[in-house]
Amino acid sequence: MAWQHLSVERRGPVERVTLNRPDVRNAFNDEMIAELRHWAETAARDVALRVAVLAGAGPSFCAGADIAWMKRMRQYTEEENVADARSMAEMFGALNALPVPLIGRIHGAALGGGTGLAAVCDIVVAAEDTVFGFTEVKLGILPAVISPFAVAKIGMSNARELMLTGMRFGAVRAREIGLVHRVVPSDGLDAAVDDYLRELLSSSPSGIAATKSLIPRVAGASPVDVRALTSHAIAVQRVSAEGQEGLTAFLERRPPWWVPRSE
Ligand code: COA
Repeated sequence: MAWQHLSVERRGPVERVTLNRPDVRNAFNDEMIAELRHWAETAARDVALRVAVLAGAGPSFCAGADIAWMKRMRQYTEEENVADARSMAEMFGALNALPVPLIGRIHGAALGGGTGLAAVCDIVVAAEDTVFGFTEVKLGILPAVISPFAVAKIGMSNARELMLTGMRFGAVRAREIGLVHRVVPSDGLDAAVDDYLRELLSSSPSGIAATKSLIPRVAGASPVDVRALTSHAIAVQRVSAEGQEGLTAFLERRPPWWVPRSE
């Protein structure tokens, strides 16, 4: 696909996708939503992909949904509006369901759906001066599509305060509530992403995939169901090719095959 609003760069097993509408602070309209969804669905089928990084071009990561585009939706029928909102929900769902880890590299502003994008990343590094916010209520709308992902990350109490007020908050607060994992000076963003890349690339791809799929399932499961789920998950993984390779490599004091050889 020829990307209009994204730039996508592949280096070995790592893909970097950059939101690329810097003039409007990477606000997403229907075209960018379709591209992001297409990227995520294609990435999910890519067996050579091990980690993805989501970033934004220009001064800000993402200013959320395109306000001019949303304003034009007034001329749409209710069915058209629902269909449009659904495609945004599917885009967030596809990013959230990516089988490989998604690292968010966040700077400038991440507002509305931009904060929502941070919530669907597995790991988020943010520049110390980043501004976050569920600003939808300031615009007379609401953080609907992003709410399941955001509430799962920050919990009900923080969601009530931040979504009801629409107040902007900084990177340190974002880290305190679990939206961000590492806060760094803006010139340290790439090094922080590289640290995580090193960790992820030195771990078993199928072990990571099984872990990523297990986390949301244990979070909502009853204590009885969870025992069956977790016993099955470890039983399958330890006899798998990568489980056997990882255990053997440790005992033989050598790196397993998935650790990149240093050049
Ligand atoms: N949708 C559409 N256009 C947007 C936008 C959005 N969500 N956010 C910013 N823009 C546009 C501005 O209208 C401006 O356009 P112009 O150059 O034609 O005037 C351009 O992007 C730059 O914005 P500006 O405010 O001048 O840049 P900034 O770097 O000083 O501030 C933000 C960036 C993101 C902090 C600020 O634009 C902002 O608060 N935007 C609103 C974000 C928001 O509430 N999003 C929630 C949507 S649900």
